[in-house]
Amino acid sequence: MKRGASLVCGVILCAGSASADYWALPIPPQGRAPDDHAEPTRDLSPAACGVCHHKQFREWSSSLHAGAARGGVLGQLPAFDRETRVACLNCHAPASEQQARFLAAEAGAVQSLSGVDCVACHVRGHRRHGATHKPITPHGPVEALPLFRDSAFCSPCHQFPDWGERVKGKLLENTEQEWRASPYARAGVGCQDCHMPDGSHEFKGIHDPGMTRKALGVAVRRRRQGIEIRVSNIGAGHALPTYATPRIRVVLRRGDPPGEELVHSIQRRLDWHPDLGWTEPADTRLLPGRELRLVLALEPGEDATAMLLVEPDALYHEQLYPNLLETIGEDLGPASLRLLREAQHRTGRTGFPLYRAHCPPWTGRETACAIEPGSGHRTR
Ligand code: HEC
Ligand code: HEC
Ligand code: HEC
Ligand code: HEC
Ligand code: HEC
Repeated sequence: MKRGASLVCGVILCAGSASADYWALPIPPQGRAPDDHAEPTRDLSPAACGVCHHKQFREWSSSLHAGAARGGVLGQLPAFDRETRVACLNCHAPASEQQARFLAAEAGAVQSLSGVDCVACHVRGHRRHGATHKPITPHGPVEALPLFRDSAFCSPCHQFPDWGERVKGKLLENTEQEWRASPYARAGVGCQDCHMPDGSHEFKGIHDPGMTRKALGVAVRRRRQGIEIRVSNIGAGHALPTYATPRIRVVLRRGDPPGEELVHSIQRRLDWHPDLGWTEPADTRLLPGRELRLVLALEPGEDATAMLLVEPDALYHEQLYPNLLETIGEDLGPASLRLLREAQHRTGRTGFPLYRAHCPPWTGRETACAIEPGSGHRTR
């Protein structure tokens, strides 16, 4: 495999852990439905579960888990060998049936799969599993597994194993370890507590402005010497952001009309060089509880604005997809190329302004400047 594509690659089997058996990947074929399963429950597609589990289906449909196996992933797979394709699909579409459908089709013919779906998390050999035991349902007894309330449930896909790919000594995906080192783990607040409040299946993360606002504490002040912003990670149970793909820009800008700017990126910054592979020029992410403080000097008569801009897919848009098109583009047919170009385009449009604040000229005493949520306009 060419290295440009391997940013998020790793084959996960958390051998020896409680989840090893449940999370054997790919998920083995389900086989035949048991006879005691009522007819509508023999169909394992998310829409079929949704006939009875409306709420979970509606919420999941809006989540990134539902979009985990679409163009950006599937478009590049034909350039790789079978083993690599399966390794990628193990996190993006873990069920054997989905993988078989993709692997048997011509390159570019299957443009999306149901991704990280109900089967991926709940069904093994047609048997349903969940957090609580339900003795009688149209699909037989639901088996309770403590794993459903454990952060380890999410790790096969959100934590690379020790031997996974590292840049500057750090794993490319290290969410569970970051969480374990945080006060949240000690307080017993796990992934599900924050990402599945009241059982929600929307799995909101950094692509969602409301969720991202929960992560960030922001204070902006007009001081004698200028405008000061403090940004802290008050609500993410891991590094903010946990992955190398998003970027959060903090912008302090002098005056109206806009003058000089001070721009700081909160980001694990990776750069791709054809000879060196990935390098990490900077890691300015905020661990839980950590604060960033920036000051832009102003004359007493000057006013200023502060902005926080979130680009959840910066690395994909600016480096990963362009690199892929350059390095493997010629190995791909027109249908796959189109999928990758669409993904490059889409990932350039997921940004949003998070907060905006305006500070007046110096009035003789220090003031807190009013902060408004971003207007919802995309940054690009
Ligand atoms: C014909 C209706 C029907 C269909 C279709 C159906 N279920 Fe269920 N399911 C139920 C009922 C009824 C219960 C029991 C609910 C209760 O007791 O609170 C249940 C319980 C569950 C539970 C345990 C819920 C809990 O409260 O702990 C899970 C998990 C589950 N189903 C998953 C699925 C999945 C995944 C699918 C699709 C592959 C599916 N179900 C399809 C009717 C259905
Ligand atoms: C250990 C699990 C895991 C493996 C293995 C894995 N991925 Fe991913 N991948 C993820 C996760 C988690 C994300 C979401 C990261 C985020 O929040 O942006 C992701 C995101 C992506 C995206 C971004 C999708 C978009 O929005 O455009 C692409 C493309 C992708 N992966 C391709 C691949 C390819 C190709 C492989 C195999 C070489 C692979 N992945 C292997 C877990 C994995
Ligand atoms: C990424 C994994 C994941 C996916 C995908 C997923 N679930 Fe769940 N589901 C869970 C977890 C974890 C819980 C337990 C949450 C808890 O108790 O905190 C759960 C709980 C449930 C429950 C019990 C509801 C409750 O509030 O007690 C039902 C029913 C259910 N899921 C159905 C579905 C259906 C239907 C789908 C597909 C449309 C689906 N799930 C997709 C992980 C998942
Ligand atoms: C089978 C693999 C798998 C499992 C298990 C899994 N995820 Fe994911 N998750 C993914 C992939 C792949 C993506 C990215 C989809 C994409 O963008 O292409 C993702 C995306 C997400 C996102 C959206 C991130 C963003 O960038 O906004 C959140 C939040 C998330 N997962 C939380 C969880 C939690 C919490 C659990 C455990 C309850 C869990 N996931 C279990 C594979 C998985
Ligand atoms: C204390 C609450 C909290 C806990 C615990 C928590 N998260 Fe998050 N998570 C957030 C918030 C808030 C965001 C949005 C801001 C951000 O991206 O950090 C987020 C973002 C994410 C993202 C988006 C991608 C990115 O680069 O940030 C993923 C994936 C994710 N969390 C997975 C997990 C997993 C897996 C766990 C458990 C090991 C977990 N989270 C534990 C609150 C939490």
